Amino acid sequence: MSKKLKVGLVGVGNISGVHMPAWLSMEDVEVAAICDIRPEQMEKYPDLPHFEDFKDMLDKTDMDVLDICLPTPFHVDYACMAMEKGIHVITEKPISLKKEDVARAFDTAKKNNVNFMVAQCLRWWPEYEMVRHYYESGEYGKLLSAHMWRLGNIPKWSWDNWMQDEKRSGFIPYDLHIHDLDFMVYAFGAPKDCQLRRARRPDQDYLTADYDFGDFFISCESAWYKGGYPFQSGFRFQFENALVTNEKGEGFKVYLGDGTVCKPLDNTAGIVDAVGVPSSNAYANEIRYFADCVKAGIMQDKVKPEQLETVIDILNRF
Ligand SMILES: NC(=O)c1ccc[n+]([C@@H]2O[C@H](COP(=O)([O-])OP(=O)(O)OC[C@H]3O[C@@H](n4cnc5c(N)ncnc54)[C@H](O)[C@@H]3O)[C@@H](O)[C@H]2O)c1
Repeated sequence: MSKKLKVGLVGVGNISGVHMPAWLSMEDVEVAAICDIRPEQMEKYPDLPHFEDFKDMLDKTDMDVLDICLPTPFHVDYACMAMEKGIHVITEKPISLKKEDVARAFDTAKKNNVNFMVAQCLRWWPEYEMVRHYYESGEYGKLLSAHMWRLGNIPKWSWDNWMQDEKRSGFIPYDLHIHDLDFMVYAFGAPKDCQLRRARRPDQDYLTADYDFGDFFISCESAWYKGGYPFQSGFRFQFENALVTNEKGEGFKVYLGDGTVCKPLDNTAGIVDAVGVPSSNAYANEIRYFADCVKAGIMQDKVKPEQLETVIDILNRF
């Protein structure tokens, strides 16, 4: 495909604020239209065609790709509507709170010979890619243990307050913990066992999880606290010959046994803004990857349905 890729985006809310700049910065892409039921959300893109109704956009826009940045309950229904028209779809995480939606989406993609991908962004995050590389290469010996965390406040900015409705958002398991669990399943496979604890109220949610991978274990914390706790995410991976860390204010570091401390990535790893959007380019990387698959006429194989199903199975135990 040598012509420009025509992209439509639906849901011009919080996360579209990192998707749109990524699409707009790509020279081989034309953003063909955007859609949101709140017209004021689209005012910051005055030069693009605006739609307030998704089916209207689908009927009237020539699109190769649809990017779905909608609240979670709409992801699979809207993806299937587009795929039935031969449009490739990238959707934000989580794919759904329901396991059966994974097969529904991937089956529809297969039937219509289009790409479907869930934007599980940690898979493109340089710091997390480095951990996976150290694990696979054995550069620092075997992995022994890890601790991962993702802590913030209950979101108050979402449209119709949908994030504070557990039936629609799935609360902390599906908002924040899914990122760390998805990375684990992607990098290390399904855990053999897990122990889960959760402290939930309508206005706050906290969980801890211990995942047993046989040779190593990973403990996790995820929180939507009630007050103004500053967002932070990070990790410590304990390998036999190095401690690999990504911590607020410190960035990505490798501590070696002889006391040497290395900073293998030249970026501001671990730094996030007020709503938890990172300064690294993971979102642009995932969007570039998807666009390249579509342009090359190949099916993405980075985010597999069985991995998404494993994650939903575990999250539904909380
Ligand atoms: N990968 C990440 O790091 C990350 C971060 C934040 C959010 N997300 C995911 O992105 C998705 C969206 O979250 P958000 O925080 O942007 O939510 P949001 O509420 O800020 O934005 C959703 C937008 O969709 C619009 N909308 C609602 N119903 C619509 C419809 N039927 N047709 C067209 N527009 C409609 C709303 O007006 C709103 O502008 C969620 O699934 C969330 O889990 C991912």
